[in-house]
Amino acid sequence: MSSREQWSSRQGFILATIGAAVGLGNIWRFSYVAGENGGAAFLFLYLLCVLLVGLPIVIAELALGRRAQGDAVAAFEEAGDGSVWRYAGWIGVFGAIAILSYYAVIAGWALKYFVGAATGALWTTAAEGYGSYFKTFIANTGEPIAWHAAMLAAAVYVVAGGVRKGIEVVNRWLMPILAMIIIALALFALSLPGSGAGVRFLFSPDWSVLAKPEVYVAALGQAFFSLGVGMAVFLTYGSYMPRNFRLPTSAVAIAVGDALFAIVAGVAIFPAVFALGIDPTAGPELAFITLPQVFLQMPGGALAGAVFFFLLSAAALTSMVSLLEVPVAMAVRRLKCQRWKATGLIGAIILVLGIPSALSFGVLAHIKIGRHGILDAIDAGVSNFLLPITAILIALYVGWRLDKAIALSESELGEGKLGVCWHWLLRALVPMAIVAILLQSASVL
Ligand code: PHE
Repeated sequence: MSSREQWSSRQGFILATIGAAVGLGNIWRFSYVAGENGGAAFLFLYLLCVLLVGLPIVIAELALGRRAQGDAVAAFEEAGDGSVWRYAGWIGVFGAIAILSYYAVIAGWALKYFVGAATGALWTTAAEGYGSYFKTFIANTGEPIAWHAAMLAAAVYVVAGGVRKGIEVVNRWLMPILAMIIIALALFALSLPGSGAGVRFLFSPDWSVLAKPEVYVAALGQAFFSLGVGMAVFLTYGSYMPRNFRLPTSAVAIAVGDALFAIVAGVAIFPAVFALGIDPTAGPELAFITLPQVFLQMPGGALAGAVFFFLLSAAALTSMVSLLEVPVAMAVRRLKCQRWKATGLIGAIILVLGIPSALSFGVLAHIKIGRHGILDAIDAGVSNFLLPITAILIALYVGWRLDKAIALSESELGEGKLGVCWHWLLRALVPMAIVAILLQSASVL
């Protein structure tokens, strides 16, 4: 155990966990889900979910991970060999692989757009319109796979470098740069004439949307996905956390950093969308069809567009790294595999697993699972089902199975009001909220 790697500093650890949390979810997914669900009132619900459901689980995951000093499954090993709790760890690992397989495909789209925006190719294709540009690209066979492979190769390179020299270093560099970029883009968007409507959309609530049950499903799903809970990422990152890092403050930094990033991304996106009179409810295509159009029309848009797609690709990379670390930590520990071999092999497996998603808008477009194509079906299955299930298991394990005194001391919340409140959230509110939302989403299907 003594040879187990640890984060070199608290700041590096926090940047790495914020890097895991901040990703396509904060920019691509947040903007379209908020756009579809009414803006400000959705934002309010989402923040409530982060605070009351997401944050307690982040604390639970980090505490379990640090206690176990192992991988995702080790976090539940205390429950005993034959115990069903261990499946929670396995579901997390399986989920991380499943998410990564399609997440890397979308990250590949972002990379393609970044290269296109930087070389100028993206701005000369406007004649055909971005709708058909995007659809032709994703319907292609070789191209989406090649970009998917490129993003995976980058993630493999980082993870193979190890916890300190790979993951921590990349996040230390990238996260402050990404924060500056998103703030600059937001200020730029606010300076556009007519941006006020976008700001109102995001901040002045129309409470009537709260009458729609699907808004609650969307808010909780977004909180889970964006924080990255329930995928064993914080169990794994927590296992490299030294005892002297304050756990609750780290968890709060992750939740606040992640939510702020999404809000500032919203400020960068909606004012620009509204200033140009474009519909914010475009759905998943918002970042890839609507935004290039916005950039093309606005002054300085070519530069802003290149910077935006760099941001999207880099934010996706740091999340991919965290997801890849979950199975890699497992292989290194259980199979005693060398890190670089494990990373290369798992990267290759995920490359292959992602191919059906990469082709799901082209040659495999005819394959439908329910009403969804392959990529959308995996996304819906993971975000609406697997993430909440693992999150419930973690909440119940820490709330009911783990000794209360251990839970309170491992989380560093102590026996005071804060600790008791957190423990009850995990025991009752968190599981109930998740079950309610799962039932709701099953009836929406
Ligand atoms: N939180 C990441 C995002 O917002 C995605 C992610 C999900 C990362 C689950 C890790 C675990 O894009």
